[in-house]
Amino acid sequence: MNFPITRMRRLRGSETTRRMVRENHLRVDDLIMPLFVCPGKGVKKEIGSMPGNHQMSIDVAVEACREIADLGIPAVILFGIPDHKDARGSGAYCDDGIIQRAISAIKEHTPDLFVITDVCLCEYTDHGHCGVIVDNDVHNDETVDLLVEESLSHVRAGVDMVAPSDMMDGRVGAIRSALDAQGFDHIPIMAYSAKYCSGFYGPFREAAESAPQFGDRRSYQMDPANGDEAMREVALDIEEGADIVMIKPALPYLDIIYRVKSEFGVPVAAYNVSGEFAMLKAAFANGWLDEDRVRDEVLMSIKRAGADLILTYFARDIARVLR
Ligand code: PBG
Repeated sequence: MNFPITRMRRLRGSETTRRMVRENHLRVDDLIMPLFVCPGKGVKKEIGSMPGNHQMSIDVAVEACREIADLGIPAVILFGIPDHKDARGSGAYCDDGIIQRAISAIKEHTPDLFVITDVCLCEYTDHGHCGVIVDNDVHNDETVDLLVEESLSHVRAGVDMVAPSDMMDGRVGAIRSALDAQGFDHIPIMAYSAKYCSGFYGPFREAAESAPQFGDRRSYQMDPANGDEAMREVALDIEEGADIVMIKPALPYLDIIYRVKSEFGVPVAAYNVSGEFAMLKAAFANGWLDEDRVRDEVLMSIKRAGADLILTYFARDIARVLR
């Protein structure tokens, strides 16, 4: 067993043997590309801290989706920036909202592209929190009612899967029963199950104009110190009917991805969030890190940890390399 009988370097000796014993692979099938949709026509406004990503009006998003589908990427996840925000986030669940219109336009032009929507209120509330505020805190059950309305309106518009990202208790079960009651039992739910209260969402909040106007999200998103709690969150979401569970962010929580995949064996998604993207892009722009190598290494670490799916702003770049 020991040296000199065993020489680990033998199989590292050539690209052919390295290829033959490679354990993990990044595949275009694993990728989900996030997109930000805003009002207007012909709008394509770059997000400063996320080079190559834009707020796009529906017509521009439709074009982007065609390109994404042509690259072989199976799915997009949509985030909406509404015209108007109010205390109860009404733009999130009205049938002619920005996301509802984007869903129908995209499904009309690229029917085979799998369209997922983020279900949350923070982009639509004037206070920027992920739900209805009562006594200075987000009220769980009232918020769940609105998330159910939001999910139903997305599904009526033709979405393929909903992804609740609010971290209210009981929302997966409530959305599941409402969908089932209305004849949408074939629509899967990807739950943001272990969503941490993370500093890595900063660039997204600029992109989605959704920073909380007071306080923070610690009363609903998870404490970064906790791992066992993530297992409980995931178990609850699976019991409530989640088809795919998500861990977010990805890189600082690779241990959680690993534990969830080992313990539950269900489809696992990981969100390589805006701040993870921004810090790498900044280092690439400075010439401090090699873009192709580091990007692939980072995404591979997420796969190796156990993720089946990766939501990443690098999706297009990776797909181009994989072709
Ligand atoms: C909405 C939502 C957020 C992200 C995804 N869905 C922001 C937040 O919780 O503040 C972050 C994604 C990213 O940073 O790329 N609740």
